[in-house]
Amino acid sequence: MSTGPAPIPTGPLSRIDYSERIPNNVDLAGDRRLQRALEGWQPKFLDWWKQLGPALPTKDVYLRTAIAVGRDGWAHFDHVPMEQYRWGIFLAERDPDRTVGFGKHKGEPVWQEVPGEHRAALLRLIVVQGDTEPASVEQQRVLGDTAPSIYDLRNLFQVNVEEGRHLWAMVYLLHAYFGREGREEAEQLLKRNSGDLDAPRILGAFNEATTDWLQFFMFTYFTDRDGKYQLGTLKESAFDPLARTCQFMLKEEAHHMFVGTTGVQRTVERTAQLMAEHKTKDILPYGGIPLDIIQKYLNFQYSVSLDLFGSERSTNAGNYYSAGLKGRWMETRRKDDHELIGATREMTYIEDGELRARTVPLLNALNLDLRDEYAADCAAGVKRWNQVLETAGVTERLILPHEGFNRKVGAYAGHHVAPTGEVLDDAAWAAQADGWLPGDADRAAVASLMVPEYEYGKFAGWIAPPRTGINDQPVEFDYVHLLEEGLA
Ligand SMILES: [Fe+2]
Ligand SMILES: [Fe+2]
Repeated sequence: MSTGPAPIPTGPLSRIDYSERIPNNVDLAGDRRLQRALEGWQPKFLDWWKQLGPALPTKDVYLRTAIAVGRDGWAHFDHVPMEQYRWGIFLAERDPDRTVGFGKHKGEPVWQEVPGEHRAALLRLIVVQGDTEPASVEQQRVLGDTAPSIYDLRNLFQVNVEEGRHLWAMVYLLHAYFGREGREEAEQLLKRNSGDLDAPRILGAFNEATTDWLQFFMFTYFTDRDGKYQLGTLKESAFDPLARTCQFMLKEEAHHMFVGTTGVQRTVERTAQLMAEHKTKDILPYGGIPLDIIQKYLNFQYSVSLDLFGSERSTNAGNYYSAGLKGRWMETRRKDDHELIGATREMTYIEDGELRARTVPLLNALNLDLRDEYAADCAAGVKRWNQVLETAGVTERLILPHEGFNRKVGAYAGHHVAPTGEVLDDAAWAAQADGWLPGDADRAAVASLMVPEYEYGKFAGWIAPPRTGINDQPVEFDYVHLLEEGLA
């Protein structure tokens, strides 16, 4: 257990200064004013973590901590008490030759300060991104009580501490570059809370409670993946500190999506085993989650995550692009002029009860461009999960619902579309929606299986064990030491 001195950095570049109260690689010590401002925010963050962070009392957790941001050695593993986690400010290496990659400033040197004309837009982008990070921690607060294993419990906590660090990353930008307004927004990031009636989180999907572990895995698969794509556009930004911040956050996000992909996969694996063994779809009596309930959870989380991309047609998105604030996914690998003036694309919409396509300016359809990239990525996981069903000899398959299914934002809002893409009237939708979206009975069925399994190496009956442990440790490793009652 490491409660003493900071780990020794092994990365070759840009070491993180752990002797500071706020570990960082941005030379915080060289800017006293900024350092004092962030030191003033730190106790508020810790209060928030105590009140709305993980509820299950633990002694320590085997966690990954960033210790350097270079190619090697940015992740150090050790048992640490969670409240002593070294949250800090880590930006990817600065490339002194970096130029703006798109929009009307293409080819100019990137910005180290915020240009006055883009201040409001950049502030908004950072606040919206920042708001999602603590929201997910709040949503997942009580999941520890029903963890299917110590291995899974550790992964939950790893995701939680890193989302906390992502909040730090955004708060640093607010404090360092946006003056008093930025400091006020940083306060608000702790005052809005997920599901709060008076002060909810900004985006819809971040106000839905994560009630059980199946939903957690769907969330980390679909909703953290939305985060990956949003960060991917900000990592292209002409505002260099934002780009470098997001670049480093993306490294951490990869693990969150691993938790989702493998979590759903292991759930499906156990379901398939029970289906094959008992020759029935109705495996709830045998302690497994029926495949149709898994499909409903998938339908729900995918559709609310698609809403996070905003309207297909957005002049804001086009303006952000032209101004250089927010690029496209993999901007530098795209083979076009990176300005997109006059470029067009097809967009699907609903008219007279059917799906139709029209041609729209690409600059106004960049949310759709990003959503398409995301959807293709999501499909890869579903394919992988179906492979598990195939291997087990089960004929049923999971599907990724149509992009118009259950949508509240954009061209499909106000219409009904079946998971298969058929446009429905109100009556047809009402008659079938229960079969497509999780209802109280489905959630109750899943909840009935959510019993904690805290014995090392053991797993709850509804989920298969992973193939390997974390950081080359065995699956039965003591990833978490719980704070046993009476010993505190
Ligand atoms: Fe994050
Ligand atoms: Fe994440």
